Amino acid sequence: MQINDNFLKLAAGYLFPEIGRRVSVFSEANAEALKAKPIIKLGIGDVTEPMPEACRTAMIKAVNELGKAETFRGYGPAFGYDFLREKIAQHDFVDRGCEIAADEVFVSDGSKCDSANLLDILGPGNRVAVCDPVYPVYVDTNVMAGHTGAADESGRYAGLTYLPVTAENGFAPPLPGEKADVIYLCSPNNPTGAVLDRAALTAWVDYANANGALILFDAAYAAFITDDELPRSIFEIDGARTCAIELRSFSKSAAFTGTRCAYTVVPKDLMGRSSDGQEVSLHALWSRRQSTKFNCVAYVVQRGAEAVYSDDGRAQTGELISFYMENARLIREALSAAGMTVHGAEHAPYAWVGCPEGVTSWAMFDKLLHEAHLVCTPGAGFGSCGEGYFRLSAFNSRENVEAAIERVAAGVGV
Ligand code: MLT
Repeated sequence: MQINDNFLKLAAGYLFPEIGRRVSVFSEANAEALKAKPIIKLGIGDVTEPMPEACRTAMIKAVNELGKAETFRGYGPAFGYDFLREKIAQHDFVDRGCEIAADEVFVSDGSKCDSANLLDILGPGNRVAVCDPVYPVYVDTNVMAGHTGAADESGRYAGLTYLPVTAENGFAPPLPGEKADVIYLCSPNNPTGAVLDRAALTAWVDYANANGALILFDAAYAAFITDDELPRSIFEIDGARTCAIELRSFSKSAAFTGTRCAYTVVPKDLMGRSSDGQEVSLHALWSRRQSTKFNCVAYVVQRGAEAVYSDDGRAQTGELISFYMENARLIREALSAAGMTVHGAEHAPYAWVGCPEGVTSWAMFDKLLHEAHLVCTPGAGFGSCGEGYFRLSAFNSRENVEAAIERVAAGVGV
């Protein structure tokens, strides 16, 4: 039996388990000290606050429906129930002036899974462009699929085009110097917290249409944009229907990281090319892929997600988002006041913080863990241009965020 050799090319373990491993080693060795000052985790962006009541009420009702023969449901539609697809299309797109129909919305169990699964419908010969730093899933899944060569010393893979996003370019990826066929964009960005404005997104849409390229637009954090002028969807840009797929998630905005619900929008105007040059609809391929490999998300969960769009659901998710964004503001202001350089945390739940001069991001990770008992995510884990930065997540209780920034402001690493 042969394994998929591409897995052997993966340069390191997946970032978050590696952080978890280091935290476990430290915790086991320092159990006494941690009693007085427990670890605060602002590493992985996992939500901590309860799910909105509107969602829970809808789920309870749905569970009870399953308890009666008249309302019991077995397999649901592979692409999601119409009640949810219609609400998504209306509220997240049509109401914001985007032309997206309910049957272009594919409900799923997560943007991470979808971003990986989409590779099933793309050919092996595409030139793939990613930002550096980047959400590691985009890179690792391309490695697993055999779309890259080996990694070099800096962890960059042969065959991928890396677009450096740095303080110098305002964390907006430059258009690639070489032709790219598939481009991953994430806005609001994980990890830098930067948002692409209308002009930047328009340049990307124009590039993609001119080059027959596909943009995989990850907008999992769209709900955290606080400025109404900034685009939440790539479909707010003219021409995006012929070059983009968008990923969205209920995970962070409505506390679904554990429950799992997300969606992907594949417009019917989006065409790819077969190896013999024929135009093929990506909507048709994705439909075929999903109906073969996926049975969608539980009915109960889809009812919970539908409730996000009710009046109560909108008010309650709005409060949840404001709560986390207040955490983000506290982090940004306290660290800036302590003399650190802080990016992001204005339209995204992540602060991208410069390490003190000469300190690497893994050294900063260790320092914060050992001295402040604080877990961050080292910037280098997101790519070589992330070196010299660390990421703090705003997803935590107010109490923990306040304690965390007090520990940092008390002198650690400053
Ligand atoms: C992160 O911390 O970057 C996120 O939790 C990753 C994810 O949502 O998969």
